[in-house]
Amino acid sequence: MTLKGKKILLGITGSIAAYKSASLVRLLIKSGADVKVIMTSSSTEFISKLTMSVLTKNEVYTDIFSDGSWHNHVELGLWADLMVIAPCTATSLSKMANGLSDNMLVACYLSAKCPIYIAPAMDLDMWKHPSTLSNLDKVTSYGNSIIDVGDGELASGLYGEGRMAEPEKILEVITQHFEVQQDFKGKKVLVTAGPTYEHLDPVRFIGNYSTGKMGIAIVDELANRGAEVHLVLGPSVLKPKSDQVHVYRVQSADQMHQKSIELFKNMDIAILAAAVADYRPKDLSNVKIKKSEKEMTLELIKNPDIAKELGALKNSKQLTIGFALETNNAIENAKSKVLRKNFDFIVLNTLQDEGAGFGVDTNKVKFIYKNGDIKEFELKQKTKVAVDITNAIKKLT
Ligand code: C5P
Repeated sequence: MTLKGKKILLGITGSIAAYKSASLVRLLIKSGADVKVIMTSSSTEFISKLTMSVLTKNEVYTDIFSDGSWHNHVELGLWADLMVIAPCTATSLSKMANGLSDNMLVACYLSAKCPIYIAPAMDLDMWKHPSTLSNLDKVTSYGNSIIDVGDGELASGLYGEGRMAEPEKILEVITQHFEVQQDFKGKKVLVTAGPTYEHLDPVRFIGNYSTGKMGIAIVDELANRGAEVHLVLGPSVLKPKSDQVHVYRVQSADQMHQKSIELFKNMDIAILAAAVADYRPKDLSNVKIKKSEKEMTLELIKNPDIAKELGALKNSKQLTIGFALETNNAIENAKSKVLRKNFDFIVLNTLQDEGAGFGVDTNKVKFIYKNGDIKEFELKQKTKVAVDITNAIKKLT
């Protein structure tokens, strides 16, 4: 039961290989997975909705709208731990490459937050066509994984590459995906994430555009690899996937500071991913500040620098990792920050890099180590950046 408790969303598109999806569902269920199925309407010509519904014991979705009701593709996308599209035709691949969301399957694919595997199936000439190759490049650049096609006899009677991978092979890929190393087992990690809100009065605050996405991606990766994670989270609508993570919700830099200092002594590692406000209003009003005819001047006082304090407190076995978001002289600023705050390394991202920064799903980073070494990465999904950061930390432990 290697997939016990795992939620798998299977997308089936209109290829003759769709008959093999029934075997795939059986294998997934035998392994302990909970499976839900979405089918394109053309796939129902090859295998019936009823078959898939009986096998999965779940409703099978084809249309966003049916019988006057609306199926929530966002919820299904969030439900899944993994989505696999098997078989995936050239048409569906093209829709996924270009975000053409004209059916339930592509809508779910676009709103899914989980890892996505695609098992293509098509005739050999379609498989080799430049448009297919370019669509494969596109979907992999979005962070999806392709399960390689096999070769042999095709539906056209021709022999060559293009057959969907066998269900046993797809099951093996999915199983391997979940067999991640528990290489952080026994490690206690503190992560700060999100913005801070510095209150002016009961209805106003000074804040920033951080969403906490990058920090939470790191939390998810660490928790998945067995770490005991303590997340001190500023105001954010996001939350970690695992309910094993200890989450401490805070508002202001002062509160984040207090909780982080309290936790740090028992931690092996601290990752300071929060966008902490450097200043807060000197005076906090208990009542809403009234508008007047005059200009208004706000006096701000400095907030504690959490990272710097932890850097000063840390012992020889503890690691601290920081983030730097720079708009100019990025490398020099980041290098001096590593030393000033006593980080083991800092993750630098600049707002100049397209696709990097607040709220987006991708990031382009450089790691700058305290000995001056620099490691540069290409633009990738924040979940993949989290893997790079976690791997880099592992090397230092
Ligand atoms: O100095 P700067 O704000 O650019 O430093 C960024 C790094 O320091 C980040 O890792 C951030 O989480 C941390 N930091 C902090 N407390 C502050 C300011 C920044 O922990 N008051």
